[in-house]
Amino acid sequence: MSAFDRFVINRRSLLLDSASVAVATATLLPRGARGAAPPAAKEFSLVAAPGRASLVGPPHPDTDVWAYGNQVPGPEIRVHQGERIRVRVENRLPEETTVHWHGVRVPNAMDGVPHLTQEPIGPGKTFTYEFDAPDAGTYWYHPHQHSSVQVGRGLCGALIVEEPRPIRVDRDLVWVLGDWRLLENAQISDDFDNRHDMAHNGRVGNTVTLNGKVPEAFAVRSGERVRLRLINAANARIFGLEFEGHRPVIIAYDGQAVTPHEPPGGRIVIGPAMRIDLVVDMTGKPGSRSMVTDRFYRGLEYRFVDLAYAAEPLRERPLDTPISLEPNKLAEPDMRNAERHAVTFNGGMMGGMMMTGAGRGGGMMNMMEMMHTGKIWFINGVAATGHVHEPLITLQRGRSYVLGLNNETAWHHPIHLHGHFFRVVSRNGRPTTYREWQDTVLMAQREKVEIAFVADNPGDWMFHCHILEHQAGGMMGVIRVS
Ligand code: C2O
Ligand code: CU
Repeated sequence: MSAFDRFVINRRSLLLDSASVAVATATLLPRGARGAAPPAAKEFSLVAAPGRASLVGPPHPDTDVWAYGNQVPGPEIRVHQGERIRVRVENRLPEETTVHWHGVRVPNAMDGVPHLTQEPIGPGKTFTYEFDAPDAGTYWYHPHQHSSVQVGRGLCGALIVEEPRPIRVDRDLVWVLGDWRLLENAQISDDFDNRHDMAHNGRVGNTVTLNGKVPEAFAVRSGERVRLRLINAANARIFGLEFEGHRPVIIAYDGQAVTPHEPPGGRIVIGPAMRIDLVVDMTGKPGSRSMVTDRFYRGLEYRFVDLAYAAEPLRERPLDTPISLEPNKLAEPDMRNAERHAVTFNGGMMGGMMMTGAGRGGGMMNMMEMMHTGKIWFINGVAATGHVHEPLITLQRGRSYVLGLNNETAWHHPIHLHGHFFRVVSRNGRPTTYREWQDTVLMAQREKVEIAFVADNPGDWMFHCHILEHQAGGMMGVIRVS
């Protein structure tokens, strides 16, 4: 951070302080007597519109996409922890949209969920979001309206909240992972929300991008220490990245600090909507190349990108400075007095039959019947058809909860809770090593996962699978905190 940055922050925090004093005073005054100066905020503007992007690169033509600021991914929003963010969103799409700030603990009205927290933004209309960034870390933004189509056509962007005292690295980089289903002419296949994708593992595409481009080589230098902020912005693809010859260390999940550790088998598994911050020491030889591969789906392994070393090293030996992040201030669940709720997920295809949520163990339906209902996935027996629902569970504000998530399906599901972070406390009855904080937890087939948190953000919050075709097929619900 430069001296200038420091100056700006100090000046800004002074401004924020005096603003909050003004607000506090104002509430004592009768209405109308208030000076309506809004608190200082960092201003951004996003225009969502059809555009064109060179995803595959020449000789292939550009791809027609939907994008923020005609950029895929959209412009990066980067602020300091504690800053206020104001984003004016203009909708130039042919349909309604909203923007959800995935992982940011916003007030409910700023959560961007159509009909539940706001009216969708109509074509030609604008909406201004304003909220604080309470937690440092790696987040992202995307539409919550018709999201399988809108995200699938390219609407997404990174939102980075910098720590006041960042760890020492040579480069701090964002890798937005994208996945597209393209036709031969590099155009997006428009078979969105087809029943097959919905009932299986979602719209897994055929073209993977890194920051909006099919990656070739990624230039690095020997001895360099890089912080990689991975954001999985794909509709459905789960990545399992392996850095050949390197030992990446995970330092954060979903923006939240975790005890630095190497992932089991060196594979970084990241489901849709999840973020993982890595520290990678570039230990390769000058002039060498090594592969990063994605080995998540058996039989569909591929080379994701090459790390290409420059001829000149940066330093002889990698840095040995600390890499633990300072944790954000999240309310610690009181495990002794936590109230427990069971949440069962079922549905989807299994051996040619659809498992329905009806009754214990699930009823069976054949593919034809299922095609007609469009209700494919169930949470506690209910397949959601829109964003507004009777809550699955109502939680008392300030209380601690354990949700026992029970995946009774034959598929993975990245399950996201809005407005909160939770600790992942156990998997299949075994306590987790790191009790990691997450906002999106990837459940494997048949897995039971316990999450724990304090319900401290009031409102109606979405709770859904972030495989967007599963969400569209009913795997969604509302958790109320009142
Ligand atoms: Cu990333 Cu309900 O959202
Ligand atoms: Cu799912």
